[in-house]
Amino acid sequence: MSFIDEVEKLKKENDILLVAHNYQLGVIQDAADYTGDSFGLARKVTEKKAENVVFCGVDFMAESAVVLNPDKNIIHPEPKAQCPMAAMVDIDRLRQYKKDNPDAAVVSYVNTNVETKVESDICCTSSNAVKVVESLEQDKILFLPDKNLGSYIKRLVKDKTIDLWEGYCGTHDKISVKDIEVSLKEYPQAEVIVHPECQPEVIDLADFVGSTTGILKRAGESSSKEFIVGTEVEMGHRLRKENPDKTFAFPGDPLCQNMKRITPEKVIRAMETLEPVVVIEEDLIKRAKKPLERMMEVGRGN
Ligand code: 13P
Ligand code: SF4
Repeated sequence: MSFIDEVEKLKKENDILLVAHNYQLGVIQDAADYTGDSFGLARKVTEKKAENVVFCGVDFMAESAVVLNPDKNIIHPEPKAQCPMAAMVDIDRLRQYKKDNPDAAVVSYVNTNVETKVESDICCTSSNAVKVVESLEQDKILFLPDKNLGSYIKRLVKDKTIDLWEGYCGTHDKISVKDIEVSLKEYPQAEVIVHPECQPEVIDLADFVGSTTGILKRAGESSSKEFIVGTEVEMGHRLRKENPDKTFAFPGDPLCQNMKRITPEKVIRAMETLEPVVVIEEDLIKRAKKPLERMMEVGRGN
């Protein structure tokens, strides 16, 4: 039986919703009921009725799904698929910052572990980071952990003091101006569309900055025929599928090894066994719910 047929059979047999992030292998994206960015995935899992959700993405995404849906069985096919940026927050340092800056609001990117979320006033994704910061009454903000996304917010939100953490995504941070410039020589007419986890110098060159779903939307709506894309290379799967008449170049071919830890074999195993289930302490779920629900209330940006 083909992978897709096996997936379809198991979805019905075990009442499974299969969701996948835009950086998952194309074959997994094609088998999923829904493919999207962090915000879209969180919303979809919450909206859809299903006893079991097999979540193909990295750990923080599956954890957020548990916090927002503690009554659903959230299954993560490979618990070692973890976002290294989430580990860049030292909780003791964060607690000390809060003590030293009681007037500051703590905004944490969803790419954080639950312990960090518990210490945060509100979460955000790349799609709504600017909107979330703008929604806050506090004039002083600590944004963590991504310094690049934080710098991007600072460009657009001028009336707040925003302190940045020193975290970054290794996959996006290594996309260089030089790589983009080389690509621009090949495609001089191309539109440059990038993820806000890229370095500020790369953002300077961009015609559009947005979440993975924002990038897809922009590519679909733009009249340009050629695009230089600054994000993980698997985004090319949907971009090319949905825009067969357009050309997409990925300077440096940035790859997120963690996303690729989830394989079709592991997806089938998870769908058969309904394991491994993501388990989070009840107390942490309760406390992390508030910053995540506040984020969902603010809604999607781009
Ligand atoms: P999106 O929410 O834009 O899909 O980004 C998630 C991510 O991990 C980007 O590296
Ligand atoms: Fe984390 Fe970067 Fe991979 Fe996104 S691309 S999951 S931020 S390591």
